[in-house]
Amino acid sequence: MSFPIHRSRRLRKNEAILRLVRETCVSTDDLVYPLFVCEGKAVKSEISSMPGNYRCSIDNIVKEARECRALGIPAIVLFGIPDKKDARGSEAYNPDGILQRAVREVKSAVPELLVITDVCIDEYTDHGHCGLVENGKILNDPTLELLSRMALTHAEAGADIVAPSDMMDGRVGAIRRTLDESGFADTVILSYAAKYASAFYGPFREAADSAPQFGDRTSYQMDPANGAEAIREVMQDIEEGADIVMVKPALAYLDIIRQVRDSCRVPVAAYNVSGEYSMIRAAADKQWLDGERAMMEVLLSIKRAGAQIVLTYFAKAAARIINERQEHRDGIPARA
Ligand code: PBG
Repeated sequence: MSFPIHRSRRLRKNEAILRLVRETCVSTDDLVYPLFVCEGKAVKSEISSMPGNYRCSIDNIVKEARECRALGIPAIVLFGIPDKKDARGSEAYNPDGILQRAVREVKSAVPELLVITDVCIDEYTDHGHCGLVENGKILNDPTLELLSRMALTHAEAGADIVAPSDMMDGRVGAIRRTLDESGFADTVILSYAAKYASAFYGPFREAADSAPQFGDRTSYQMDPANGAEAIREVMQDIEEGADIVMVKPALAYLDIIRQVRDSCRVPVAAYNVSGEYSMIRAAADKQWLDGERAMMEVLLSIKRAGAQIVLTYFAKAAARIINERQEHRDGIPARA
């Protein structure tokens, strides 16, 4: 493999040959756009730590959903921001809660768009933890019932995919059983299988007002130091019935995405989280780097690592660029 017989630059000579040998591409089909839904009418308030992202009331969520569909994005993931919080997160499994109503409206306005729902009570509890709390401890088994009820109300509202993000042990199995017993055998479970206790969730906690009021999440989310444990989590979730497994965050965990891809045979998703978005946006706003190029490079790296689905706050911006490139190549508009 030595010079001068082999010259790698032969395959970099022009755009056509680069396209011919390219191994990975990001398509609009890969993208999922996260949205935050709150009470009210005509509300669209920007999240200060995530410029370009908003908390929206249901009417504006429907608009966002239409826009995603028009851009060719196949799915959105919805997070609910309730007006009322309590110790047991009651609004999380209220059949008429903010998220459940949003799902119904979106599914009736844009039925082709897949709706994924976040199943976790932290946005609904006054203490901000993802499980029930007793004497300062986060309880595992009693939380499973609440998560199952929550997932069921999402399925009843029309959610295509429920996505447990709480990291309680056994929640995928509990949710699968509840859904199956209630006639929702076809509802997909996307499990946040390997979710790390990460600093990169900072801006999300502002957006969803879900920062823990005491302690942290290290007794349920994973230690960033561990890799083999991620595979164990993934295997356990698949056994319990997960249809799709996710690694979160994405960028500091590209090695984990690759290991998960190589060790199982179900679709792998990755969550390009709020802090990863905000870092690029902040640097781009300061003109310290080219935001569009950085965004596309990051999304490509997540796909190259082995994720076929990417949840990202960049979804709409990336879809616009992908569609423009396509039009430019074809000489005809990619979409009407
Ligand atoms: C928990 C949840 C979190 C995120 C998604 N689901 C926050 C957390 O664990 O503190 C973070 C997403 C992001 O940072 O973009 N409901």
